[in-house]
Amino acid sequence: MYDFAPQHDLDKPELYSALARAANALVEGEPDPVANMANIAAAIWQFVPDLNWAGFYRVLPGPNGDELVLGPFIGKPACIRIPIGTGVCGTAAALGSTQVVPDVHAFPGHIACDAESRAELVVPVMSGNRVIAVIDLDSPTPGRFDEEDASGMRLVAQVASLSI
Ligand code: SME
Repeated sequence: MYDFAPQHDLDKPELYSALARAANALVEGEPDPVANMANIAAAIWQFVPDLNWAGFYRVLPGPNGDELVLGPFIGKPACIRIPIGTGVCGTAAALGSTQVVPDVHAFPGHIACDAESRAELVVPVMSGNRVIAVIDLDSPTPGRFDEEDASGMRLVAQVASLSI
């Protein structure tokens, strides 16, 4: 059993550092990428407050080149395939850069998977210079994510990059 009991009174850098340590402990010695993505998504859900969706999209070859394909997540069922360059996730994958979106309705091409989502944070998972996946967080609270959430989630993406 894993019993992390995250404290919600931590400031964001402490919270994400605790989350990254938990993610590291979860993937240690486990080679299976699906198991590791599933446990990292569950840990994000446990540690990060005010989310309605948290999970992975992987970059995989499709009939017309690479695309994002839904991976392990917590939340409502979601869009399965997203073209690279489309929506918040596809933009993060195309640019290899974190996307902090305070208001999803103002993001051109945003893909609505859950009508409750109002703010979104997407961090790329890199292998060298290549984007191999993205981690997507959605919140029902507008303006929910800031640069501290982005840096914190980049720590989690580093754990993912070595374990998926
Ligand atoms: N909103 C995302 C799609 C994925 S869902 O939020 C789970 C986007 O615009 O890429």
